[in-house]
Amino acid sequence: MGELTGRTVLVTGAGRGIGRTEALHLAAAGANVVVNDPGVEIDGSGGDRGVAEAVVAEIRARGGRAVADTGSVADWADARRMVELAVAEFGELHAVVNNATIEVNKGLERLSEAEFDNVVAVKLKGTFAVSHWAAAHWRARFDAGDRTDRAIVNTASGSGLLNPLPTQTNYAAANAGVAAMTTVHALELRRLGVRVNCVSPSMVRTRLTTPVPGMDQAPPDGAPDPKDPAVVAPLVAYLVSDGCPLTGQVLSVRGGTIAVNHGWSRGAQLTSESPVWTVPELAAGLATLALEDPFDRLATALGGALGAHGREEFEAMVNAELERH
Ligand SMILES: NC(=O)c1ccc[n+]([C@@H]2O[C@H](COP(=O)([O-])OP(=O)(O)OC[C@H]3O[C@@H](n4cnc5c(N)ncnc54)[C@H](O)[C@@H]3O)[C@@H](O)[C@H]2O)c1
Repeated sequence: MGELTGRTVLVTGAGRGIGRTEALHLAAAGANVVVNDPGVEIDGSGGDRGVAEAVVAEIRARGGRAVADTGSVADWADARRMVELAVAEFGELHAVVNNATIEVNKGLERLSEAEFDNVVAVKLKGTFAVSHWAAAHWRARFDAGDRTDRAIVNTASGSGLLNPLPTQTNYAAANAGVAAMTTVHALELRRLGVRVNCVSPSMVRTRLTTPVPGMDQAPPDGAPDPKDPAVVAPLVAYLVSDGCPLTGQVLSVRGGTIAVNHGWSRGAQLTSESPVWTVPELAAGLATLALEDPFDRLATALGGALGAHGREEFEAMVNAELERH
């Protein structure tokens, strides 16, 4: 018996990368797993049913229980079907792990309407759609007197929560939205016995991050690998487990380090005698406050890049990189 025996978990985008290792880990811990993944390219194009089916075959070969689903989380009817599949196949759904994403990285002036919409549809609307249908099912179970522990685990990114990463208008906005939705849903669903948390992986080696310098280097044989996608799965397993008390949390995972995120927080403030400011008063007043430079923030996120280059040189490097996208 594993610690998740008897729990049924739907993992979206579970055919590759972090979602795949989450599905394998949850199944090894005894959970029944719905492996959702349409097997699309990074930009959302194409599709390969074999991607989800291969993970299911891997789980079954190890004696676990899993079923494949190849619907898109961005499709309202598909999202409903994956929740129904869990119940039809395993008799119940206890947890949803919203992990699916696509990426289309371009500078704002080049990013098309469709490229914005498509990324937001998978990352943000997809999280809403699957959570909606799960919550509707859990509402009915709650009304029928069922008090089983339920959980949602969303997936955000430092891009959107912490770092103003250039070329990620769509992805950053969607991830910030996922974190915001996590706290709203945690509040709303507590009355139904549903806990809602969010993980935010960082520097994990998947097809999304292989272009990042240094990401393709694995440590020598046998040494622990802090960039292995498997570093995220134990936290997800804990968050979906019956008896985990956490709700409303957004937790970053980088190698073996887990950090609690506090989100936007109020900084220094000015108050005028009259509630209506004049523009000169605003200009003088705001000049006295410590304001954050987004380039400083990016440099910090990149590990103190400013120290090596200086502010102007760093901005020029970022601008040159932007011209390539
Ligand atoms: N890799 C990292 O370092 C990193 C950092 C921050 C956040 N994340 C987040 O972790 C999650 C997993 O990312 P990854 O790096 O494993 O990426 P990945 O590309 O390896 O896996 C994403 C999976 O989602 C699937 N997918 C795409 N569109 C879908 C849809 N409409 N419906 C269902 N599935 C769909 C893809 O087919 C793919 O298999 C994402 O939410 C991502 O934002 C990853």
